[in-house]
Amino acid sequence: MTPDISNNTLRERFLENLKELPTLPTVVAQLMLTLNEPTSSARDLERLIANDQAIAAKVLKLANSAFYGLPGKVSSLGRAITLLGFNTVRSLVLTIGIVEKFSGPSGGRYFDRGEFWEHSLSVAMTCKLLSTRDPAISSEESHLAGLLHDIGKVIMDFSMPAKFQTAMEQVTLKELDPLEAERKYVGLSHDEVGEIAAEKWQFPEFIREVIRYHHTPLEVPDNDTVQLVAMANIIVHAFKQQEKDNLEYELPELEPSWRERWVPTPRHDELIVTKYEVEIEKVRDILSLYN
Ligand SMILES: [Fe+2]
Ligand SMILES: [Fe+2]
Repeated sequence: MTPDISNNTLRERFLENLKELPTLPTVVAQLMLTLNEPTSSARDLERLIANDQAIAAKVLKLANSAFYGLPGKVSSLGRAITLLGFNTVRSLVLTIGIVEKFSGPSGGRYFDRGEFWEHSLSVAMTCKLLSTRDPAISSEESHLAGLLHDIGKVIMDFSMPAKFQTAMEQVTLKELDPLEAERKYVGLSHDEVGEIAAEKWQFPEFIREVIRYHHTPLEVPDNDTVQLVAMANIIVHAFKQQEKDNLEYELPELEPSWRERWVPTPRHDELIVTKYEVEIEKVRDILSLYN
């Protein structure tokens, strides 16, 4: 099927539709603003989360899940923050709030939101694993950047489901790669759409850059978080394929400079694989909240 209207018209129409971009839960919008504020306190965080009972309940449920291994039952947000730490809880709240906003059934069978979030959460977790190599990089920020890198896709599914389905059908049939298909049938690709949304939602600059350049990281060679997300994205795609093929996880070929910096020795490969096997279970734990 070829588009019956010009690419420019499509683009304009999509931008028009984007005006109705959904608003993020208040707690998410407000927490995003605190990312650059070292002054926000545990009590502020607790108060913010308490305003959204649905999210608060899910945070407590996860805090009590086996993976955090906390002693006894955690029955209050304050206790969860004390035991898990400010950054972990803030990350959990942002993750839950964002996933929740865009969970539910997709516009059709060629895009699966469950799979989408599994991918995004896996990239987030892999970014966090890799980021430990460099103490100058915040693991919380790289987790968040990984979580949001492909947000443009789910926005397309939300705002222009029919056209996005046609694009994804072409991808499933292996006729086009995802970015080409999106440009052809929706008018913009998910990195462009994501960037527009990130601006509207007033996301911090480093997240906007990750969303915009995760497929063209060499355009911003000085942005470490972009390189990290681009690399995590490649690793997660490779692991997913290996899982489907019933193979053991093995790191794919990577840019030599990335390897040198982030995974310099076979020992590091091993560490990533071992940790990934554990962490992927946490990812599935979070997603089980939405089944
Ligand atoms: Fe992407
Ligand atoms: Fe991705």
